Amino acid sequence: MVKKCLFPAAGYGTRFLPATKAMPKEMLPILNKPLIQYGVEEALSAGIDNMAVVTGRGKRAIEDHFDISYELEHQIRGTDKERYLADIRDIIDNCTFSYTRQIEMKGLGHAILTGEPLIGNQPFAVILADDLCYEEKDPILSQMVRMYEKYRCSIVAIEEIDKSQTNKYGIIAGKEIEENLFMVTNMVEKPDPKDAPSNLAIIGRYILTPEIFDILRNTKPGKGGEIQITDALLTQSKTSMVLAYKFKGRRFDCGSIEGFVEATNFFFNLVQSKSIKKKEENLIQN
Ligand code: G1P
Repeated sequence: MVKKCLFPAAGYGTRFLPATKAMPKEMLPILNKPLIQYGVEEALSAGIDNMAVVTGRGKRAIEDHFDISYELEHQIRGTDKERYLADIRDIIDNCTFSYTRQIEMKGLGHAILTGEPLIGNQPFAVILADDLCYEEKDPILSQMVRMYEKYRCSIVAIEEIDKSQTNKYGIIAGKEIEENLFMVTNMVEKPDPKDAPSNLAIIGRYILTPEIFDILRNTKPGKGGEIQITDALLTQSKTSMVLAYKFKGRRFDCGSIEGFVEATNFFFNLVQSKSIKKKEENLIQN
């Protein structure tokens, strides 16, 4: 069983400066909900209720968000504004949050290793909150947890990208063992299009077995001088099976302004069409 989800959330969010100068990028909202809350909701719907967050300096707003604000609750108690806090209150009541700080920014692999004391010796999910994923009935992480239960090995989520974009992602090569599921044979962090082994890009959803921690400890800095989870997973694939799963659903790169705006429009249209549907249903009932 996968019981814990790790959220690496120490990054600076430089692509969103100046918005992220004093505010964590994970707190940027799509409509009225911060990115990290979408991730936590996805984990919860996959049956995971233990959230482990790797934060850094200037990230206190994340901890405050997943805590009770007594003053605010007191102010709006008994008013119709209370409903705005219902979802986050539900999360607080149903999840446990634990935090640790990454002191130095040495890459995603290093951030994941920093989370080891919060995870311990068990399989765990990783969500990168700026990859916002959506699937109405079967969220991406739920799909991956099912895959994990079947194969019991590390799994990365992948999607097909335009070959010109390979230098923004970890890229895999693999052998398709069932529809949309690949056994990884190679993995490269952000290769130039000419060196990329395929156009199958890793997106910010992983399920990792705890052996990854020892591998990360022995992984030398790679692309950009940082410790890369991609390199550690390639090492793991030499001795155990590592899978890449082409998920069903949509993913928005909310680490880029373009993807952020796209997600905002998508979720706005979704909310609009749901409320129109509700009004129509009410009309039929009456
Ligand atoms: C990280 C990983 C990369 C992966 C990407 C997904 O890169 O290192 O392999 O493809 O997340 O969003 P980052 O976007 O943090 O530079």
